[in-house]
Amino acid sequence: MPRHTRARIDLDALRRNFRQARLRAPRSASMAIVKADGYGHGLEPVARALARETSCLAVATLEEARRLRDAGIESTIVLFEGVHEAADWPVAADLGLQPVLHSRHQLEGAEGLNQRVAVWIKCNTGMNRLGVAPHDVAAFRQELEAHPGLWLTGLLSHYACADDLSHPMTRRQHECFQHLRDEHPDLQVSQANSAAHFHEPAPDCDWTRPGIMLYGGTPLIDTTGPALGLEPVMSLASRLIAVRDLEAGEPVGYGATWTAPGPRRMGIVEIGYGDGYPRHAPSGTPVAVGGCRCELIGRVSMDMIAVDLTSFPDAEPGTPVELWGAQVSVDEVAGMAGTISYELLTGVSPRVPRTHEGGQD
Ligand SMILES: Cc1ncc(COP(=O)(O)O)c(C=O)c1O
Repeated sequence: MPRHTRARIDLDALRRNFRQARLRAPRSASMAIVKADGYGHGLEPVARALARETSCLAVATLEEARRLRDAGIESTIVLFEGVHEAADWPVAADLGLQPVLHSRHQLEGAEGLNQRVAVWIKCNTGMNRLGVAPHDVAAFRQELEAHPGLWLTGLLSHYACADDLSHPMTRRQHECFQHLRDEHPDLQVSQANSAAHFHEPAPDCDWTRPGIMLYGGTPLIDTTGPALGLEPVMSLASRLIAVRDLEAGEPVGYGATWTAPGPRRMGIVEIGYGDGYPRHAPSGTPVAVGGCRCELIGRVSMDMIAVDLTSFPDAEPGTPVELWGAQVSVDEVAGMAGTISYELLTGVSPRVPRTHEGGQD
């Protein structure tokens, strides 16, 4: 009998979340971020659905971009990490990609290009991860434009603390980028991630770059996607495979970390950290069993978790379970497990089949 654990992906909800991004950035166009296998939702189906909403997609790696072209997707594709070595240039050119450049060493190999490649410069306005220092952007631009095969299309920068609406760093990064915009008025600019779509005033760059909000997760701390008007896209579902009664004092699971405080009814769900359910989710993490919110008890195992069914005594083997989706927000589970929805969504393991629904007009 096949395992019932699966991730259902609602591509119509994905598209509606993209439209939310558009409404929140009316002065900008928006590229859809589909890196990391479409944030764990399946690269090709997610990209196909979002290509109906925008002309531009973005990925992190050349391999992801190649998968998109192999799937027949003709959208503009921005390559966030750019090229890593000289041999990547002809590949990026053949695939018609727009690499993002953050360092001079990436120019190696560009002199041999026999077709033009549009590129972006990533500017380091404070994240201090990748990027050209603001005082060096003009010189870098000159060097880049000395390559006949390269055509500079825009400047890009990334916020470090936009998830915290009160963080002063966002304003500093915005001002720094604004100076660069003033110095290079002929270039397109792109700065806003999902979180910036919830800032006041609304983003004013040419291109915003929404990621997590498309998938229904919150980009802001201390809230959930649904509280921000976003729809869950992934429903991680399973079922009960066993139900039993516990007496007061009986422990459950590895490490015997949870003990029944009184007579309890308990269920076992066929999902565990081997599927990407977070091992650090503690007792008390919400789980919806047959539409009823219950609590995780004891440690998460590789293939199983236990839930307290005392408030839902009718549950039986086969009763459907939702780990996250419409009934339990992925942000709630992430908060309980001390992480963020990005990690949970991208961490659903290959053993969990994805089924995609909707996405057509
Ligand atoms: C350069 C860049 N832009 C945009 C995004 C999208 O960010 P978010 O998912 O927070 O919207 C990412 C994600 O990490 C990124 O690396």
